[in-house]
Amino acid sequence: MAIDDALVDDPDRLREAVNSVRWYHSIPLGHGIVTPGESQTPPYEPPILPDMRDKTVLDIGAFDGYYSFEAEHQGARRVVALDHYMWGVNLDERNQYWIRCNALGVLPDRRRDESDFWDPSLPRRRPFDLAHRALRSRVEPLVMDFMGGRLDRIGAFDVVLFLGVLYHLPDPIGALERLRMVTREVAVIETEAIVIDGHEDEPLVRFIPGDELGGDHTNWNQVTESALHGLCRVAGFSRVQTMSGPPAEGGASGYRIVVHAHV
Ligand SMILES: C[S@@+](CC[C@H](N)C(=O)[O-])C[C@H]1O[C@@H](n2cnc3c(N)ncnc32)[C@H](O)[C@@H]1O
Repeated sequence: MAIDDALVDDPDRLREAVNSVRWYHSIPLGHGIVTPGESQTPPYEPPILPDMRDKTVLDIGAFDGYYSFEAEHQGARRVVALDHYMWGVNLDERNQYWIRCNALGVLPDRRRDESDFWDPSLPRRRPFDLAHRALRSRVEPLVMDFMGGRLDRIGAFDVVLFLGVLYHLPDPIGALERLRMVTREVAVIETEAIVIDGHEDEPLVRFIPGDELGGDHTNWNQVTESALHGLCRVAGFSRVQTMSGPPAEGGASGYRIVVHAHV
C-alpha cells in the first residue's frame, strides 16, 4: 500500500487503508475517521501530560504515535517518535515460538526477537506512517533500541514521554539513567505498578521472569510507588511527583502509575 496525498485526501480510500492495518492507538485522522486502536488505556491528558507548547519532545516507545501527534497538536516545537521492538518484530512468528516454549516449559530466548523474528521492513510502523501522512505531521520517526543505541544520536529534549515502556525493560535502573540523560526538564513515566498489602510504602520491585503478567514474555517488572520514586532519584532526577497513583478505592494490586520526574 503506497501512502500518497491522493489516498489521505480521499476519505473512502483513507478509511480503507486504516482498516487494512492493525492499530494500537485510537488516533483521530480527520474526515471523522478514528483509528480502531486495541489499547484499553484511555489516553492521558493534561495535567498528567505536561505543557508541551514550544517544547522539544521525545516520545520513547511511540508505537502508532498517538502521544507524538498529540504533542505536535499541543504546539511542541519539535517532536521525535522513537520505537523499535513493536515496529520490527514479526509477532506471528514470535508468538508461535512462545507457544512452543510454553508447551516445553522453557523461557523464550529474547535475543531471537532481533535476529530470527526481526523484519527490517518494519511492518508495524505502517500505521504510524499512515497517521503521519494523514495528519501532515512533521514528527520525526527514529528507529532505535532505547537501551542499545547511542544516546548522542538522540540528544536531549525538554519533555520526554516514557509511557508503557519501563516494565518492558529488564534493567530499570539502567533505563532510567538513560532516560535522565536525554531529559532537559521533565520525563513522564507511566508503568506497571503494584500495591502489596502490608508493604504499601516499601520500595519493592516485582521481578517477572516469564509471562505471568498478561501472558506477555516482554513484561519484566512491576514497581511500588516508593520503588519508582527511588529508582528515579537513583538515576539522577531531583524531584518525583506522582500524577496518577493507586486507585483511591483500594483493593487493586496491579495498576498503572504515572510520575513526573524532574531534572
Ligand atoms: C505498551 S507500548 C506503549 C506505547 C505508547 N507509549 C503508549 O503508552 O500508548 C510499548 C512500546 O515501547 C516500545 N519499546 C519497548 N522496548 C523498547 C526499546 N528498548 N526501545 C524502544 N522502544 C521500545 C515497544 O516497541 C512499544 O511500541
